Amino acid sequence: MFTIITGAQFGDEGKGKIVDLISGDYDLVVRFQGGNNAGHTVKVGEDVYKLHLIPSGFLLDSRVLIGPGTVVNPEVLAEELDMLADGGIKLDATRVGVDAKASIIMPYHVELDGLRESQRTEKIGTTKRGIGFAYIDKVARDEVRMGDLVDKEKFLKRLEDLAASKEAAIKELGGDPSIVMDHELIDKYVKLGERFASYVTDVSYEVNKALDEGKNVLAEGAQGTHLDVIHGTQKFVTSSCTIAGSACANIGVGPTRVDEVLAIVKAYITRVGEGPLPTELLDDIGKQIQEVGGEYGTTTGRSRRCGWFDLPLLKKAIYLNGYTSIALTKLDVLSNLDPIRVCVAYELDGKTIDYPPEDTSELARCKPVYEDLPGWDNDLTGVKEFSDLPKAAQDYVIYLEDKMGVNIDIVSVGPAREQTFRK
Ligand code: GTP
Repeated sequence: MFTIITGAQFGDEGKGKIVDLISGDYDLVVRFQGGNNAGHTVKVGEDVYKLHLIPSGFLLDSRVLIGPGTVVNPEVLAEELDMLADGGIKLDATRVGVDAKASIIMPYHVELDGLRESQRTEKIGTTKRGIGFAYIDKVARDEVRMGDLVDKEKFLKRLEDLAASKEAAIKELGGDPSIVMDHELIDKYVKLGERFASYVTDVSYEVNKALDEGKNVLAEGAQGTHLDVIHGTQKFVTSSCTIAGSACANIGVGPTRVDEVLAIVKAYITRVGEGPLPTELLDDIGKQIQEVGGEYGTTTGRSRRCGWFDLPLLKKAIYLNGYTSIALTKLDVLSNLDPIRVCVAYELDGKTIDYPPEDTSELARCKPVYEDLPGWDNDLTGVKEFSDLPKAAQDYVIYLEDKMGVNIDIVSVGPAREQTFRK
């Protein structure tokens, strides 16, 4: 079975928890896009793991793979593996694989990213991890690949070939070009290459072979649908394709092999960084959701902007991804709010529309049209079954399901594994 999971909003929907929850059913869990700009939080008992690169499925027995469409910072990979090893989770090359074609994030990518963002008059809110610049080099065929990093000769030759143009790019943005051929950094990368040589693999081969053998594969998306570089709210987007079809293209699996596409949907909406968010709450309700929901980024610590559930954006996510089912997270965060509002349409220039306009600046001008639902006072974090939810919370879930036209199969009421039930 081949399942794809993606976030249906702007990321941070709680994918980490749901992937961890279901990954026991999967032999392989694969990251297919992005880099260490993802921020998964997985809580098991008292242990909390905050990861940016390694797929969330590492806690059980699955083999976790980082696919050819990703960009990999080898220092971050090493730090995460070391952190997990300190927690007693030792992941060697039998448990983790990185595709030879994955692009390496070099220190000069991080430098360029920071320089470029500091010079933008209108910030796009990049995480300044060099992700976008590593992708630029992939498209320009100027990338350093994982397969290069693990071969010292090839790696040094590649750097030599690229040095002049990278130095010029940094100089142009007013930075210090010496970072490109810095000996200490190069030595560090050579050592990382030696460390990861045995981790290099061919992810499309592994995944297709596993599917042929009747095994289960889970493709784990990062960020969220509306941050997709093509279909998202350009230019406030991430630098990769985040929608489900991207899993096929980026891993190298035919679309005919997909069995399920699972949406992770938060019971309200959040967005970190810049960009339009029509239902944004700039009042005490927004602050309450932010506090109760712990809406601070795993990657950057930046506070997330919060708003009511946005159906026009969600309906677009449904057709962009072709979802077959939904996991609804963070329902517990909406306790003690009355009414609970759902945006069902927008008003734009005197017209009512029930879909997000394609132009980002028009989306920014959209005013939400709300339907109000009754709230509930009860704490939901101890609820174990759907039927034990207060009637108003059940009604909210059923209302959203009806409006979205896709089954909500999983409901989450807290960060821990056991705070989850099937509807
Ligand atoms: P990205 O891939 O970067 O988009 O991250 P993500 O979708 O994996 O989300 P992340 O884990 O960063 O954020 C979700 C946060 O909410 C984490 O702190 C989780 O522990 C927490 N969380 C997940 N589900 C629930 C829930 O149902 N209720 C509450 N209160 N917290 C939850």
